[in-house]
Amino acid sequence: MVAPGDVEVEPGRMYRTWLYNDQFPGPEIRVKQGERLRVTVENRLPEDTTIHWHGIPVPNAMDGVPGLTQDPIRPGETFVYDFIADVPGSYLYHSHVGLQIDRGLIGSLVVEETHSHVDYDREYTLVLDDFLPGAPAALTNRGPGPLRGGGIMGRGMMGGMMSGMMGMQVPPYTGLLINGRLPQDPAAFETRRGERVRLRVLNPSGATTCRFAITGHRMIVVSTDGRPVQPLAVDSLDIGMGERYDVIVEANNPGAWTIMAVAVEASLPPAQAVLRYEDAAQTSPAANAVPEGLQRGRVLDLFDLRALEETETAPPNRTIDLTLFGGMMGSAWTINGQAYPDADPIEIHEGERIRVRMVNQSMMIHPMHLHGHFFRVGGVLKDTVIVLPHMGRVSLDFTADNPGKWFFHCHNIYHMESGMARVVRYV
Ligand code: C2O
Ligand code: CU
Repeated sequence: MVAPGDVEVEPGRMYRTWLYNDQFPGPEIRVKQGERLRVTVENRLPEDTTIHWHGIPVPNAMDGVPGLTQDPIRPGETFVYDFIADVPGSYLYHSHVGLQIDRGLIGSLVVEETHSHVDYDREYTLVLDDFLPGAPAALTNRGPGPLRGGGIMGRGMMGGMMSGMMGMQVPPYTGLLINGRLPQDPAAFETRRGERVRLRVLNPSGATTCRFAITGHRMIVVSTDGRPVQPLAVDSLDIGMGERYDVIVEANNPGAWTIMAVAVEASLPPAQAVLRYEDAAQTSPAANAVPEGLQRGRVLDLFDLRALEETETAPPNRTIDLTLFGGMMGSAWTINGQAYPDADPIEIHEGERIRVRMVNQSMMIHPMHLHGHFFRVGGVLKDTVIVLPHMGRVSLDFTADNPGKWFFHCHNIYHMESGMARVVRYV
């Protein structure tokens, strides 16, 4: 059920928003690899809604894009999603209507593998989110309240209004959450010395790329966007909207430690949670402890990762060049100068191998997401990839093996809503 409701984001502070089954984030959905998932969605919101099963290559009619793959679910109506969850891994589900992601309509979806590619003793899911108190409003029509700017990407002279005009507009978030909790009342994840803890780190936030690290521990990356990779130890990693990373933390440093996510493009108080050893004397982390990995050490470079499975490397039959641009003085966000829905579909044929080459001529990060397919980028398979600002380039390859009309867009929902999207259509 999708309905308005209240959640407590810190002790004594209620937040009225929209919820899946009265929870924020929505309840974690878990299925086993190959199982059939059937979800009945009853819309008790005052608006239309849909659910998108982010990352799962579902049949087109189950993909949840209103006006493209289904009619929106009207207030008072019910819709049943029904598909087989074939590919194991960490996924998301979220509303695909307007800016409803910033109303809290997000959740985690785990497809458990029959034979795990990695050994671990326990696992936790960490849902990162940007906290917007109040209803989201489009930014290009001048966002509510003062604009914020800055962050890791644009410190110094690029503050507030200036960065807004220069294409760094971000929504008026007041904080970052892990599993729906502000740092005043952080979620705690228990472990014991000697264990291997699997963390599924997911970022379904509206407009925030995060840098993620843990005090006193390195992280071994074991999968991205659900797909297994050869283990790689890092001190921190950047996770864009729509991306997921699974990491193993080797619990060999007893105590209570800060888990932290900082916004890369905005100045916001970091999200915090706690990694706590059951047998340790210390029960809460040192105040103001900032993970070493946020200051030095190895930041994950996506192009250092290698898939654990065999990936298709055939050369493309078709190459598509896309220029990502926009945001200047509050203008639209565009792909090749066009703002969706006033944009040409990308036409492909079943069986083709497609290469999409993107260049980002704007000043913001664009996490680009393709529905219905995994693509190969560098040495891994993913469904969402960050294209860095200031002429960042990414090239991705995929096989056209899931016919339909599929959305391809920036997962910053404000960019998506102001035009940075295309339809990929099988003809
Ligand atoms: Cu996670 Cu089209 O979205
Ligand atoms: Cu974008």
